[in-house]
Amino acid sequence: MKIILVAGARPNFMKIAPIVRALKWHTGDNLEWCIVHTGQHYDYEMSQSFFKDLEIPEPDYFLEAGSGSHATQTAKIMIGFEDVCLKEKPNIVVVVGDVNSTLACSVVAKKMFIQVAHVEAGLRSFDMDMPEEINRMVTDTISDYFFVTEKSAKYNLIREGKDLKNIHHVGNVMIDNLYHQLNKLNNENSYFSVSGVKKKFMNYGFLTLHRPSNVDEKSILNNIVEALNEIAKEIPLIFPVHPRTKKMVDNFGIQFSRNIYLLPPLSFRESLYLLKDADFVLTDSGGLQEETTALGIPCFTIRENTERPITVEMGTNILVGYKKEKILSSFHNFKNGQRKKGKVPELWDGKAAERIVEFLVAT
Ligand code: UD1
Repeated sequence: MKIILVAGARPNFMKIAPIVRALKWHTGDNLEWCIVHTGQHYDYEMSQSFFKDLEIPEPDYFLEAGSGSHATQTAKIMIGFEDVCLKEKPNIVVVVGDVNSTLACSVVAKKMFIQVAHVEAGLRSFDMDMPEEINRMVTDTISDYFFVTEKSAKYNLIREGKDLKNIHHVGNVMIDNLYHQLNKLNNENSYFSVSGVKKKFMNYGFLTLHRPSNVDEKSILNNIVEALNEIAKEIPLIFPVHPRTKKMVDNFGIQFSRNIYLLPPLSFRESLYLLKDADFVLTDSGGLQEETTALGIPCFTIRENTERPITVEMGTNILVGYKKEKILSSFHNFKNGQRKKGKVPELWDGKAAERIVEFLVAT
């Protein structure tokens, strides 16, 4: 049995790290595997620092796809990945998440009669303006095996006609990674470049923002930043800025309050070091909605919808949209003591990757 594990963009790296650990335990049980990095993300802070932090071995193939329009980026990944599949002749290609690399590699594999396993399958925002929604839907249409993080994903797949026997509710590999890294962080004395910032503020909110729908249009980004500047009058915000957002902020000449502490993109561990002790999180990321639910940290998601509804139904997540008034009123409710008591969803126990690999090895 030969498996190719694909990763391309920042949120993929956290998802493959526990799968790599589980694959290592099984290597030799009639199992060979290799890692393909598509190069969708390529800056040190967006890519290599994650491989280092998360102890992922150097990829066997780096496709150097780089940035570009969706078509350019997807096409470059497809061309590079086809060569890898021709050479490696895998039995299964494992893709994670919902980025362009996920779609590109699943399509290539399926057309070469290679089985496709999708980790984090079935999530739906029902918002076709999100490129990730298209990536999720296309990938799930052609995948053979579906590993899901929550029941809503299973029901979505059943509604779309998938066979129940190929849908496996295994838990959440993002959360496997979170627990593993948190455990390490709590048991070692590491140096963090952001420890000065953390000490300076004591109480703070942790902020991330990068969705095209929030940052690519000046009036929308301005409106969000006005709300953030208001919040920062009451409590400082620490904000590692994604390259897309940095580009837009510079283009639009948007000004942040001095109480919003801007940082370059952080490694996973630096980010976790700040996240774990934050009073609350403001974000439009998918992963942070889940990580805050697992950690019991209040999360305000600056989006109108989520493909991860369990974080709202069961966890600490609140959808606050992108309009200033709603963001501010939700924050003030929180300040006045209205807090959600979240619970950790079923099977978010740190063992999802083991379940996935055990299934693949037995296939
Ligand atoms: C991608 C994913 C998104 C994910 C996000 C996490 C898709 C469609 N989107 O969005 O789902 O939440 O990654 O970060 O796959 N850039 C750099 N250095 C890099 C990478 C990108 O400077 O290493 C800049 C480039 O200007 C590039 C822009 O960021 O044009 C956007 O990068 P891209 O990979 O197209 O999309 P993301 O916004 O990062």
